[in-house]
Amino acid sequence: MLDDAEFRALTDVLHSDAPLTMGAWRNRFEEEFRDYLGVRHALSVTSGTVALEIAIGLLDLRPGDEVVVTPQTFQATIQPLLDLDVTVRFCDVDPYSLNMDAGHLAALLTDRTRAILLVHYGGWPADMDAIMRLARARNIVVLEDCAHALGAEYRGRRPGALADIACFSFHSSKNITTLGEGGMITCDRDDWAERIDRLRSNQVDGVFGKSRPSGARAPELLPWMQYSEYVYQGACESVRRAGTNATMSEAAAAVGSVQLAKLDTFVARRREIADRLDEVAAAYPGVRVQRPEDGIRHAHHLYTCFVPGGADGRARLVQALDRRGVEIQLRYFPLHLVPEWRARGHSPGECPTAESLWFEEQVNLPCHPGLTERQVNCLVDAFADSLKEVMLIPLSHGAHGGNP
Ligand SMILES: Cc1ncc(COP(=O)(O)O)c(C=O)c1O
Repeated sequence: MLDDAEFRALTDVLHSDAPLTMGAWRNRFEEEFRDYLGVRHALSVTSGTVALEIAIGLLDLRPGDEVVVTPQTFQATIQPLLDLDVTVRFCDVDPYSLNMDAGHLAALLTDRTRAILLVHYGGWPADMDAIMRLARARNIVVLEDCAHALGAEYRGRRPGALADIACFSFHSSKNITTLGEGGMITCDRDDWAERIDRLRSNQVDGVFGKSRPSGARAPELLPWMQYSEYVYQGACESVRRAGTNATMSEAAAAVGSVQLAKLDTFVARRREIADRLDEVAAAYPGVRVQRPEDGIRHAHHLYTCFVPGGADGRARLVQALDRRGVEIQLRYFPLHLVPEWRARGHSPGECPTAESLWFEEQVNLPCHPGLTERQVNCLVDAFADSLKEVMLIPLSHGAHGGNP
């Protein structure tokens, strides 16, 4: 994953006399990211979580507003909504992609819906044509959580350029990494880009000092202190521009740039691993694998399949895999059922497909370009042997229970 190219980039950063923050490497990474997606703006931050916090803050949601979200994602996608007085509606998912289902979405939209927060689950792009049609007709903002989807394609375009605003994660498990942690926000709107730039940095920026009418004197707000004109002006700016410091370091950006150039290779390797696992699953008619239609490229951040036999059948398979050294992490527990969202009135039955898949059918297997060939062979053999043990005899090769 990280090789001499990243080491060389880091050495360049460390040998340079340039500041280690807000410099040429960050500009370059953002420019390359922008070009890769075909968007007007790409602004780097320190994590996908921070990207989502900033992006959701931009939506200016008010009490009484409604937001439709997917339940099948990592908590960071919707966590900032917990602090807002808005009504959150969880939209059930499609049983193959685990993405927000456009049919269910249509039924949840009201005159008060202001935003849709979706994820491209595991790297399979959501049904964006249908979702954007619904959103545009009602002037609803759509936020894409692209934490899994860098490297995916949707009918000739890329996630991150399919809606109004998008957030990426460069955590070390993701499709590329910026030294373990990092994130990016993309959008086309200039006013949003300007706000994001201020919010991600608590620096007082270029407009510093411009807003002061010439000749105006600082009022004596704090008469016991001798405020200079300069300090007064700075104080006003920082009060007006409450932000945070989410600046990606030059070292992280330099690594991001190298990683972005390798993205297609990484995704191709993920695809190879997924193909081999799909091939094993194909021998069992009840096992469903993820197969997007033509024109859609899955980035395979996660490998997901669905097994028959109910909760017991799935548990037997997980145990069989575990005995062979394959650890399963199910991603993700339906969010409307976690205590924080239950406390806001959400309950079982709200998203029946997401619930039954998670509790009974879903299996996520390791799928990462960092796996060696030997590890992939072990994984594939363990999957084949476990399915054989749990589901008895495989059908003749070639029969499969894939998507319709
Ligand atoms: C769907 C999704 N959104 C957001 C995040 C948060 O990203 P980060 O770990 O960079 O904060 C993750 C991370 O796992 C994720 O999977």
